[in-house]
Order: sequence, then C-alpha cells, then structure tokens
Amino acid sequence: MFTPDTVNRFSQLETPFYFYDLGILSDTLKSCKEAADKYNFQVHYAMKANFNTRVLEMIRESGLGADCVSGNEVKKAISIGFSPQKTVFAGVGKSDKEINDALDLDILCFNVESIQELKVLDSLAAKRFKKAKVAIRINPNVDAQTHHNITTGLDENKFGINQWELQDCVEVLKQCVNLEFIGIHFHIGSQITDLMVFKSLCVKVNEMHEWFEERGFHIKVLNVGGGLGVDYHKPNAGPLVSFNSYFQVFDQFLHRHAGQEVHFELGRALVASCGSLISRVLYVKNGLKKNFLILDAGMTELIRPMLYQAFHQIENLSRTLRSSESNFVNYDVVGPICESTDCFGKEVELPESYRGDIIAIRTAGAYGEVMSSGYNLRESVRSEYSN
Ligand code: LLP
Repeated sequence: MFTPDTVNRFSQLETPFYFYDLGILSDTLKSCKEAADKYNFQVHYAMKANFNTRVLEMIRESGLGADCVSGNEVKKAISIGFSPQKTVFAGVGKSDKEINDALDLDILCFNVESIQELKVLDSLAAKRFKKAKVAIRINPNVDAQTHHNITTGLDENKFGINQWELQDCVEVLKQCVNLEFIGIHFHIGSQITDLMVFKSLCVKVNEMHEWFEERGFHIKVLNVGGGLGVDYHKPNAGPLVSFNSYFQVFDQFLHRHAGQEVHFELGRALVASCGSLISRVLYVKNGLKKNFLILDAGMTELIRPMLYQAFHQIENLSRTLRSSESNFVNYDVVGPICESTDCFGKEVELPESYRGDIIAIRTAGAYGEVMSSGYNLRESVRSEYSN
C-alpha cells in the first residue's frame, strides 16, 4: 500500500498523523453499497467509528445514511450534508438538549434504549409540537463472541430494553401520542468475525418481530445494527468477509414482509482499512531483556491496543522496502505517554530500526482518530490523505 514516494512524503512531514487512503475508502464504500443495493438493504454509517470531515464527505457521497450517538454527531452529519431523513440517533443516555436539537432537525428515527427515555422523548416532542419517529432498541441477549469490552447485546450490558420489559414498553408506547413507532433495533457488539453470530441475531430478531406483530404493532423498519469485523492481521487483504456474504446471511435468515425496510449501522468495516497511524521513532532503547522502540505516537493517538488488547500490524516503512538486507529485532513498540500500558505491541519483529524511521500502525481508520485524547497535554492528532 505504501509506495516509496508515499514514504518519502511522510518523511518530510511532522508526525504523528493519521493517513487516510481515499482510494481504499472509495473501493470499500462501493462494494458495500453495491452489495446492500442488491438486497435492497439500507446502510447508515456509524460515524462514531470515524468522523473525520473528508472521510464523512466521501461516505455521504457514496449514498449511505448516518448513524449517530450524540447530539454533536447528529449536527455534524447534517452539516456535512447527510439528509435528516437518512440520519438516526441511538445512545443509552441522550440528554434533553440533544433530543431537542435532533427533534428540531427532523431526523429519521430515535433508537430508544429505555422506557424512561420513551416518556421523556414523548414529552419533549409534545412541547415542540412534533411527532418523533422511534425504534425500540432491544437487548436480545445474543453473544457476539468478541472482546467483552465491545459486547453490547447481553443481559449484563447497559444497552437497550430487556425482553422482560417489552410488555411494559408497548403499554407506554400506546400512551405516547407524540411518538410514531416505526421499528425495532438491535446491535450486539463490534468486531464480529463469525457470520453465524449474525444468523443467531436474525433468529432473535424474527422472534421479536413476531412478538410485536402479535400485539398489533406494525414494524416498518428492522434495524440490525453493525458489528462486522475486519482482519487486523492482514491489512492489505481487503475485508474479512465480503459485504455480499455478510448481507446474504440477513437475506437468508431474516423474515420480512414486502415493503419492510432492513437497516444496518456499519462503522468499522467501512473505515478501518483505509487508515494508518504514521509515527516516527524517537529513540531506540536496548535493554538486557527488552528492546524498546519509542515512538512519537502513543495511547493519546490510538488507544485500542491499550484498551482492548487489540492487535494492529506495525511496519517500519523506512526499512521494509530494503528488508532483504536487514537484521530483524524484537521490539516492544511503545509511546511517549507516562503510563506503562502505553504500548502498541510487545516483542514485535521488525527490521533493525533507528531514530527517525517512519512507522505505520495499520488498520487504524476505525476508532482511532476519534478516540484520541489530549492526555499529557498532547497536540490534537493531524490527518493527511492520499492524493
Ligand atoms: N450501532 C451501534 C448502536 C453501536 O453502538 C455501534 C458501535 C455500531 C453501530 C457500529 O459498530 P461497528 O460496525 O463499528 O462494529 N471502540 C471500540 C468499538 C466500539 C463500538 C461501539 N459501538 C473499538 O475500538 O473496537
């Protein structure tokens, strides 16, 4: 993916920064959109994964909608040009201000996560003489078989309305005259790599769908969330599974009637592979037991390895192109932050590396830049783009 010209360009630039390959992003979006269109599925991009303006603009141009989890995300989506009618708002703790702002923007749907939130939304909509469209987020108790920090659909998780609360939920819904119930929503977790998990989700959605219809509720929208994983071990190999195989599972197992819409909220699978964190080696520290490569990027730029023990491939771009003549050394690749957990990878085999070398941390386009922080009073991380 990185040509000698690109590496040359990087070495002229101040580091660290996120590099987005817009060609990869464009190809990914195209294959997702084509596959979704084939089944008449609608995808709302989960902008929590990456809300970089250039990235969002390309996603909007590709025809996807926006899935937001804060009032500011809703506002940013609309300011980028996503249609309010293609914008949904989820989140377990929407504030009154966020709800009011989204009501004023006439978004497509609020994904409501508790009975209390239904009542609050109803009363806020009444004050504005609006009828808010809602989908009920149901916690289906389906195991996503992913890292437990990014599992959201189990009884022990804070997300969604539990199945045992649904009877109360429909009673409340009947009284909420300022709400229009349009569907049911699910999201069971992220970085899901086994497609059979999505089959289990479909079985649960079918059950819930039937439950609502038996009680006289018409379901217009079945929203099955996101969660499709990527292959962090093969950054150049494209998606873990094709979008076609992913959507096919839902086409095959999700019961739906003519005219019903199926919505998805993909984040990671759309943006992970187009982004890399580019950094420089500040120091090389050779110890008795360990060799450390100390970078100018740390957990303030990419926290995933520290928070989820996530693997990201690390490459020395200044050396790989000449790797045949290099010695290989095992390094703990660490950042400059005053925390022992500030480590991108332990015992990473790399060509012998030197101060000033350019390092790429791959597959960092999702939950990278957006989760950066100013801890240690660090500068905000910059971004660069392929031409
Ligand atoms: N919909 C809802 C309601 C969500 O909570 C999420 C992600 C998505 C959609 C998009 O999921 P995706 O397709 O990206 O898996 N920071 C973590 C991931 C947190 C995911 C939060 N919710 C990480 O770096 O792995």
